[in-house]
Amino acid sequence: MAASIQASTQASTPENKRRILVTNALPYANGPIHIGHLLGYIQADIWVRFQRLYGNECHFVCADDAHGTPIMLKAQQLGVAPEDMIADMNAAHQRDFADFAVSFDNYHSTHSPENQELANLIYTRLREAGHIQTRTIEQLFDPEKEMFLPDRFVKGECPDCGADDQYGDNCDVCGATYAPTDLKNPRSAVSGAVPIVRESEHYFFDLPAFGDMLKAWTRSGSLQSEMANKLNEWFEQGLQQWDISRDKPYFGFEIPDAPGKYFYVWLDAPIGYMSSFKNYCAKRDDLEFADFWDKESSAEVYHFIGKDIIYFHSLFWPAMLSGADFRQPTNVWAHGFITVNGTKMSKSKGTFIMARTYLEHLDPEYLRYYFAAKLSSRIDDLDLNLTDFAQRVNSDLVGKVVNIASRCAGFISKKFAGKLSDNIDDSAMLADFQAAATTIAQAYEEREFSRAMREIMKLADRANEYIAVKEPWQLAKQEGKEQEVQDVCSMGIHLFRLLMIYLTPVVPKLSADSQNFLNDSFSWESAQITLTGHSINKFKALMQRVPTEKIESMLEASKDNNTAAPAAKDENTAVAETNNQPEFEPIAAEIEFDDFAKVDLRVAKIVNAEHVEGADKLIKLTLDIGSEQRQVFAGLKSAYNPEDLIGQLTVMVANLKPRKMRFGMSEGMVLAAGPGGKEIYILNPHDGAQPGQRVM
Ligand code: MSP
Ligand code: ZN
Repeated sequence: MAASIQASTQASTPENKRRILVTNALPYANGPIHIGHLLGYIQADIWVRFQRLYGNECHFVCADDAHGTPIMLKAQQLGVAPEDMIADMNAAHQRDFADFAVSFDNYHSTHSPENQELANLIYTRLREAGHIQTRTIEQLFDPEKEMFLPDRFVKGECPDCGADDQYGDNCDVCGATYAPTDLKNPRSAVSGAVPIVRESEHYFFDLPAFGDMLKAWTRSGSLQSEMANKLNEWFEQGLQQWDISRDKPYFGFEIPDAPGKYFYVWLDAPIGYMSSFKNYCAKRDDLEFADFWDKESSAEVYHFIGKDIIYFHSLFWPAMLSGADFRQPTNVWAHGFITVNGTKMSKSKGTFIMARTYLEHLDPEYLRYYFAAKLSSRIDDLDLNLTDFAQRVNSDLVGKVVNIASRCAGFISKKFAGKLSDNIDDSAMLADFQAAATTIAQAYEEREFSRAMREIMKLADRANEYIAVKEPWQLAKQEGKEQEVQDVCSMGIHLFRLLMIYLTPVVPKLSADSQNFLNDSFSWESAQITLTGHSINKFKALMQRVPTEKIESMLEASKDNNTAAPAAKDENTAVAETNNQPEFEPIAAEIEFDDFAKVDLRVAKIVNAEHVEGADKLIKLTLDIGSEQRQVFAGLKSAYNPEDLIGQLTVMVANLKPRKMRFGMSEGMVLAAGPGGKEIYILNPHDGAQPGQRVM
């Protein structure tokens, strides 16, 4: 591992420009982005924006993590091809990130040709170097679904305390951990069937062979201390062989020369960092993949991740790279988890806030600033206290920073035609503000963003004090004080400008608006020049106070937000939808009659129903709606025999946008209730209803 880098305190010149590649953990493709996710992306983005502003070459890539059992099952539940589901999700994720100003240079997918190619290459190199072994293991198998069940997809009674409805790996009631085969009365959380034990050959990566290399990295002193401690615990427990294969059916990449065996999602997920970068290099003439990933690379590579995935990033990933003859990351930086108002994000409290829901109510820069004001380089959890959030943003950004500009700008434009003074009113103070560039840069570099924000706000306090003492609004009333007014207000604008340069990585939109107002273009170095005699533009309000009523409505909207279920984690932590949970979904948000009337429901006669080759969830229906016949793929197979459906009347959504599925077009949707599995009940109208009649 490369040694940790020192914070450089001089702005970079072309000669000492660092070449940096940054990634943040790839979000799973089966759920929307929520504010918990955003912590990491915003943290990484602030660091990246700082590096770019400072003059370094800094690339920032990401991708959706599109493989694995939960994604496969979710697509089946929705009755869509996984490829279609992950494409929709990828677009939604990119929209959310863009709206939070997360400045990725490239956003790709792990389900991509580049990723398959690199996964195969890395796997083949590992195998050739003798790091892959095979072994037969016993695992629970769902005889109905005909699939092996990850631990989290088995439920049963705890072998220790007897509590019912516990997952296959640990008991929520007594905390016991066990193997899924130890559960009493186990059942598949996918189909409800009783699982059987079955043998299968699995592929293993020889992690223990990399123990020395990983220990050396841990001792290098560059890791976060909490991470080094964790690694040491894992070394003491002894490193284990890592099971990297899964049997079909699986949504992922088939292992070369191993028909029916797939790479476990966590094998190809981090390779997604490389493949997204590769995809990016193909779009740019001036970038070479090898310059960043070859063993001899002098570029820096950093991964920002959450604390829950340290094991994968600090053990498996560096070991895989090393075994496959690639460079290893310069560092892996973990952050803690988000809590809201002091507790875990909760749907019933409305604190499981989706990125989109936030955006519908509040300015993304508020959240970016709040995170920055609380983030350090440590792995501590971060509480988003919504009262504190509003106060902090209002008092710091609006009350301290923006306020300086609004107090000074009016005089400059009205009395001096927008021209700043040729004089510097307090050059000692200006020099202090400029000198702060060094310590603030160091804080950004070290990911001590809260320290950077504190320093900046201390400067803002001084600037406000200066204006309060000078009272330009009093001077403006006095005869012959014009020059003084111009000098004082110009000084205020200079100070505001420096604060905004320093805040640019955190609040890029506020910074861009400020640059427009100042008729200027920021770089970190530009803090060292002063715009004496410079013309500025008319001041427009730069930021509103946090509208607290919007916080309330955001929480309300999050309670209603039951369609946007949180993303299931990987198979180890996924909460599978089960048949055994008589949980009632909360009633959705109120709608207007007009909203309802947009949905064109029609009585439909099922004139044909048949199995779909290769689909384990779908039945192909031909529906007669009077004027025409429609083909609809419906996820009814677990509950109905096609023959039994033929001739029945039901209700369909006739104006739903047709959807291309793997098996053909689906031209609508039939209405059905129930949690899934065997419990799906299609709707039947009473006798007498005719195909084509509208349902209102
Ligand atoms: N797909 C894996 C990562 C693969 S990286 C090669 C994954 N995805 S995730 O969608 O579950 O999480 C994406 C990132 O968000 C991770 O860094 C995770 O730690 C982070 N967070 C998810 N929930 C979070 C909070 N509540 N708080 C802070 N970060 C959280 O893990
Ligand atoms: Zn128990």
